[in-house]
Amino acid sequence: MWGKMVQIAPSLLAADFAHLAKEVQKVSKAGADYIHWDVMDGHFVPNLTFGVPVIQTLRSYTDVSFDVHLMVERPDKLIDDCALAGADQITVHLEVGQTENLISHIQSLHKKVGLSIKPKTKVADLIPFLPMIDWVLLMSVEPGFGGQSFIPKTLEKIVALKDLIGRKKIKIAVDGGINPITAEACRLAGADVLIAGSSIFHQKNYAQAIQALKGGR
Ligand code: DX5
Ligand code: ZN
Repeated sequence: MWGKMVQIAPSLLAADFAHLAKEVQKVSKAGADYIHWDVMDGHFVPNLTFGVPVIQTLRSYTDVSFDVHLMVERPDKLIDDCALAGADQITVHLEVGQTENLISHIQSLHKKVGLSIKPKTKVADLIPFLPMIDWVLLMSVEPGFGGQSFIPKTLEKIVALKDLIGRKKIKIAVDGGINPITAEACRLAGADVLIAGSSIFHQKNYAQAIQALKGGR
């Protein structure tokens, strides 16, 4: 085995909402490196999911890091509550603007900062913020729904971003349409973290599904 291991962040969007606590425990035991929460507001994206109280309720069911992906128009209104609910990392979208304020807000709460871009946003737009963030989340589908197909152009974006990041300690996460085949392409392109909903939660064996995304058997 050579090269570094990719990390896996299962997205609860594809989990069984009727048994969320069980799902969180199962996927933690199966080797999840992070638990990914897709918070939506019906405005920034045309869908609604769960809010902060749900995250807070589930916090005591696992020790795995919580990565909260805020697909909302006003992340500033949720950041404090996310931190209180036990988020370890809070990811906001570049497209909502006020990026510098949002970053310092998250930093002031001593949480890791993620910055996400939609498929049509250029990686070059991230340049001014790279010195201030811990991870970039590249959306490889239009945000809003699970189960969509991976947009192949994301692979070029991973390579370009890796180049921009250079020696800085910033992780590249890829979110949307990740299955064992697209996962391999992302790993080869240089992704550090793969976020996956359907290809984990719609499988019988979560540990096997996670291993398959890491490139194991
Ligand atoms: C989409 C979300 C993703 C999504 C991924 O808006 O950000 O995290 O849940 O789901 P799959 O893996 O099914 O594409
Ligand atoms: Zn997400």
